[in-house]
Amino acid sequence: MNATQVPFIGTPLPGPKAQAMLDREKFWVSQNYVKDYPLVVDKAEGMVLTDMDGNRFLDFAAGIAVCATGHCHPRVVAAIQKQAERLIHLCAIDFSYPQVVELAERLAALAPGDSKKRAYFANSGAEAVETALKLARLRTGRQKIVAFFGAFHGRTMGALSLTASKATQRKGYAPFLPEVHHTHYAVCYRCPVSRDPQTCNVECLDLLEKTLFKTVAPPEEIAAIVVEPVQGEGGYFVPKPEFLDRIARLAKEHGILVIADEVQSGFGRTGKMFASEHFGLEPDILVLAKGIASGMPISAVVASDELMQWRSGGHGSTFGGNPVSCEAAMATIDLLEEGLMDNAAKMGDYLKGRLRALMEKHACIGEVRGLGLMLAVDLVKNRESREPDAELLEKVLHAAFEKGVAFLGCGESSVRIAPPLVVSEKESDVAVDILDQVFAEL
Ligand SMILES: Cc1ncc(COP(=O)(O)O)c(C=O)c1O
Repeated sequence: MNATQVPFIGTPLPGPKAQAMLDREKFWVSQNYVKDYPLVVDKAEGMVLTDMDGNRFLDFAAGIAVCATGHCHPRVVAAIQKQAERLIHLCAIDFSYPQVVELAERLAALAPGDSKKRAYFANSGAEAVETALKLARLRTGRQKIVAFFGAFHGRTMGALSLTASKATQRKGYAPFLPEVHHTHYAVCYRCPVSRDPQTCNVECLDLLEKTLFKTVAPPEEIAAIVVEPVQGEGGYFVPKPEFLDRIARLAKEHGILVIADEVQSGFGRTGKMFASEHFGLEPDILVLAKGIASGMPISAVVASDELMQWRSGGHGSTFGGNPVSCEAAMATIDLLEEGLMDNAAKMGDYLKGRLRALMEKHACIGEVRGLGLMLAVDLVKNRESREPDAELLEKVLHAAFEKGVAFLGCGESSVRIAPPLVVSEKESDVAVDILDQVFAEL
């Protein structure tokens, strides 16, 4: 066996050690999620996941778009180790330490827009979304919130009230937060309003402006419009710039805040630090998590000085702004600025080109879309009807796993291409060739 060969599959999958662990997992761990395939990871480095039986996989999922710098990047590990020896926890609500201040300074400088910003820290994407909602209500004195069909903002009750990606995520949990109104996102390929992405003129927002505003959600009662600049779990849909322009214009006109949820699209994944920058969007509130610390749990909300005003004690979190996570985040930002963000842009273009070329060979691919390393290969039953083929997606994810590449799905039937931002041309070629083989065999 070649110790550096990746992928390398040396046992039936799952192997015996993985199977034993899966059996224990099934017995002891809450079974709230059906996994796409049985991968039990022992260790990971860069782009490579090694399972408990020594099989090696190329990781094209990055822990759901989290491990930006690749798994266990030595500089991130060193930052974590160094900080873990000095101070692991203190609680930023009651005490001060430099890491929170330094990370806030860096995020404030990076956030789009000229106004002076400040940052609030939490632990997860959902918790940061909750923070943004509370801040928007508090500062506007308004209650209504607008979100989008297809959106994913998390699973806590406030965030879940905005999430409208899959019915299973909401089923059984009602009632949700009142006064949340959903409208259409620019999912041009599956547009329910206009069938032609070429002529589509973001009519999807007509529902908001011409119907919701005039019937159930008068704009002067809306606190915020919460939008993913690139829709993530919903299927990696990239809107036309006019879509976000129109949201920004409507918001400004009516004193509504724009909350950009960049939990998935942020931190270099799209080839810029934040996806908002591709569209010239300057959100009032920026929500960050996932890739921020390359795998350590931390999230952040960034807003202008003027907006980020709370009553003392009006919001907080025990673990938010953990010093070890803050150090991991600063090491991540350094690495992004030193070249990983550029690599994401370059490899995103390369992968998109190679994946689009597969469309010539495989009629099951309806569309390849995305920005940077946030790409989706949309699988359809028929190109004309664009009917999603969720069953095929399941088979593709499983077959790719058996050949040694870990992908996840997104949307109704898309293969999600979201590797760590360190991915190389060679690794991209291996993954695309395996997808090619899988499509041919299925
Ligand atoms: C855009 C977006 N917002 C919020 C969340 C929720 O983040 P978390 O799972 O950390 O709560 C996610 C997670 O996928 C996301 O993609």
